[in-house]
Amino acid sequence: MKKVTIQSLVKKKSEGQKITALTAYDYPTAAMVDEAGVDIILVGDSVGVVVQGLENTLPVTMDEMLYHTRIVARATESSMVLGDMPFLSYQPSLSEAVANAGRFIQVGAQGVKIEGGGNVVHIIKELTKYDIQVMAHIGITPQSIHRYGGYKVQGRDKETASKLLEEAKMVEEAGAFSLVLEGIPADLGKSITASVGIPTIGIGAGPHCDGQILVIHDILGLFDRFTPKFVKQYANIKETSVDAIKKYMTEVEDGTFPGTEQSY
Ligand code: KIV
Repeated sequence: MKKVTIQSLVKKKSEGQKITALTAYDYPTAAMVDEAGVDIILVGDSVGVVVQGLENTLPVTMDEMLYHTRIVARATESSMVLGDMPFLSYQPSLSEAVANAGRFIQVGAQGVKIEGGGNVVHIIKELTKYDIQVMAHIGITPQSIHRYGGYKVQGRDKETASKLLEEAKMVEEAGAFSLVLEGIPADLGKSITASVGIPTIGIGAGPHCDGQILVIHDILGLFDRFTPKFVKQYANIKETSVDAIKKYMTEVEDGTFPGTEQSY
């Protein structure tokens, strides 16, 4: 299969074909997502919550993100791999943003994602100057939970909706190649998607976005500490795994395992 590129994503948008995206953080998971033919694998800073068991994404570090991104890139043949820039890896200065984004590219990512709209336009411009491709992310931005007081749907009223629409245009103008829309009303997802030329990837932004992204642990039933309304679970791997583990324990305890096939 050919590698997914920015050009192939834009083509999908222009032809009205939906773009698929999922997160992955490790080799076997990335290999499965790639084999399934998903367009984009985001090595999300959600790793902090669904893998490390943290309350939120804020403590996730650059070193951790690079560790996971390198592994995911190694497992991936066709999907586009994007590294999610963690809290404080791009905000403090343009030179830090370039250096850190560049490290994602050096471990095998094709681009990076940063959270923010108008407040990160200067960063998007700077990164694209260095040929680092940027996916922007507006709406619910988990790195700003303390500003918003939690994960609250954004753009519900006219004023905040038009601000988000303006921000979408601003990040496109700054050079972002695509845009995540998280936790906004479906109508707003529709009008932003119609107003920008770059592909929009929704997560809780309704069905009219050019594509959809979810966290892999959510769709496979591997994370159940909390479940946002926008999540749909397609399998229950946790239940299947606990059953398998219990079966193994029973067989060890009753002496069925190892049998003659597993013995030398
Ligand atoms: O960190 C993440 O996984 C994300 C996506 C869910 C958009 O930002």
